[in-house]
Amino acid sequence: MAIIRFEHVDRVFHQNGQDFTALKDINLEVKDREFVAIVGPSGCGKTTCMRMAAGLEHPTGGTVSVDGVVVRAPGPDRAVVFQQFALFPWKTVWDNVEFGLLSLGIAEAERRRRIEHYIGLMGLHGYERAYPHQLSGGMQQRVAIARAYVLDPKVLLMDEPFGALDAQTRVVMQEELVRLARQHPRTVLFITHAVEEAVYLADRIVVMSRRPGTLREILDVKSARQAERWDEIERIEDVMDQPTFVHLRTHVWKLLREQQAPGDTH
Ligand SMILES: Nc1ncnc2c1ncn2[C@@H]1O[C@H](COP(=O)(O)OP(=O)(O)O)[C@@H](O)[C@H]1O
Ligand SMILES: [Mg+2]
Repeated sequence: MAIIRFEHVDRVFHQNGQDFTALKDINLEVKDREFVAIVGPSGCGKTTCMRMAAGLEHPTGGTVSVDGVVVRAPGPDRAVVFQQFALFPWKTVWDNVEFGLLSLGIAEAERRRRIEHYIGLMGLHGYERAYPHQLSGGMQQRVAIARAYVLDPKVLLMDEPFGALDAQTRVVMQEELVRLARQHPRTVLFITHAVEEAVYLADRIVVMSRRPGTLREILDVKSARQAERWDEIERIEDVMDQPTFVHLRTHVWKLLREQQAPGDTH
């Protein structure tokens, strides 16, 4: 069953008195407990897609719905993790994770149980009373992820959540997210421009074209992962050696390269 559904979604922006189409006819379904990654060239409209699912932005054509309800505003059924960790700097780790639960009116004992569970899973034991500025970027992003998962939302929306981390921390976080996703499967829309990250994390990968953003191709990663039993391989670098991983990565790179504008240097 589809939980997140984009149907014929267009987004036109007005800039300097002119209309320009950022997204054109996006059709996408994310099924229950499916992890879908979107990759695409910079400026193709990935963040705009995510903001529309979050209710922070609206399509100019078509509809975005979550669990059958058209998205019109942010809501507790959708938790968002941004590249910039967006924690409350004046709140401790514990209070940051607790914040959303308070507004949901969840009783104290249940709040404590959930917070302890996710603080443990994200390796934050001992840091409950720390403030964000006392933590590394990787630790701060663990708090942001714990804060999203603890709400037990219908969908998780992540926009380049590891984009601000150094390469080594990023790998650790990818492995942790995979572990978390296995223990607590959720419906996830995950945006990244890192091809290997997408192949490692996702059940399906959506490759977008350059502006105006359209869906170029959708790739099935899950069946490859199951066939080669990636789940039983502990380290990301060993997964990356698998023949299908290499094949998928090369294919996505090829699609992205086709999307480079002539004269694009990046
Ligand atoms: N609020 C806005 N007003 C005008 N243009 C915007 C707005 N938001 C995004 N855009 C433009 O839409 C395009 C897609 O942006 P974005 O979704 O951020 O792309 P991506 O995340 O793939 O890099 C870009 O050209 C960007 O400048
Ligand atoms: Mg973006």
